[in-house]
Amino acid sequence: MKAALISLGSVSSNWTYEAMKKYFEDAEHINLKDLEVDLGGKKPKVLVNGKPLEKYDCIYLKGSFRYLQILNSIASVLQNETYLPFAPQAFLFGHDKLLTHLALQQHNIPMPETYISANPSGAQKLLEKVSYPIVMKFPSGTQGKGVMFADSYSSAKSILDAMSALNQPVIIQKSLETGGTDMRALVVGDKVIAAMKRQAEEAEKRANIHAGGKGTKTELDFKTKELAVKTAQAVGANICAVDILKS
Ligand SMILES: Nc1ncnc2c1ncn2[C@@H]1O[C@H](COP(=O)(O)OP(=O)(O)OP(=O)(O)O)[C@@H](O)[C@H]1O
Ligand SMILES: [Mg+2]
Repeated sequence: MKAALISLGSVSSNWTYEAMKKYFEDAEHINLKDLEVDLGGKKPKVLVNGKPLEKYDCIYLKGSFRYLQILNSIASVLQNETYLPFAPQAFLFGHDKLLTHLALQQHNIPMPETYISANPSGAQKLLEKVSYPIVMKFPSGTQGKGVMFADSYSSAKSILDAMSALNQPVIIQKSLETGGTDMRALVVGDKVIAAMKRQAEEAEKRANIHAGGKGTKTELDFKTKELAVKTAQAVGANICAVDILKS
């Protein structure tokens, strides 16, 4: 079996490539920046440095949010020709909390009470009607960046004033009483292959490792595993980390 990793060559991509070399007879690493999609003819093609991409049994596509349109396009062209761990739409979901929220809601995955506003001035009206504490989020943040907690209207109002400078949509969510912990389930296909409990640092509510959280290996019960798999499927990801908050 022949596989390719298409990535930007980050440290984690190199780990993925090392793992792929162990599982496939032949594995190649291609730079995403060398790819383009030719939409000119009847059949769209993916090109590498101007030449058609070879045939692979599996292609693992990976890149940052700046590349999501090209990742989505490449996956759309290749999805019927080769096995892809991620459906085209998974790239859009992966970088957008808003789209993800809608997809999960449509699949009946329980989510905290959430409001969305097109811009900070619309969010102002929401702040007057929600009950506190709340969490305010930018749709595109990750690693805990762009996630802000407010215990009262006055603190929410000052956070919103700061957010106004960026004029982006704002997500306002009920803050769940988690004691700063969450569960991260690693889903591959229809199985949870590992899980960790993340605990936020003292005086911090975000459990992300990048925000100082500590992760310890844990076992999930059957129902939580089932929920994690259902969530991964809702966003079209066959390899996926699902964060679960228990309140
Ligand atoms: N509604 C909430 N109630 C309590 N804690 C929350 C809530 N939303 C987020 N958190 C905490 O903040 C952390 C970061 O939030 P979230 O997962 O939404 O953003 P992110 O990790 O930056 O982005 P993404 O997971 O989309 O990459 C969560 O892991 C959790 O610890
Ligand atoms: Mg998260």
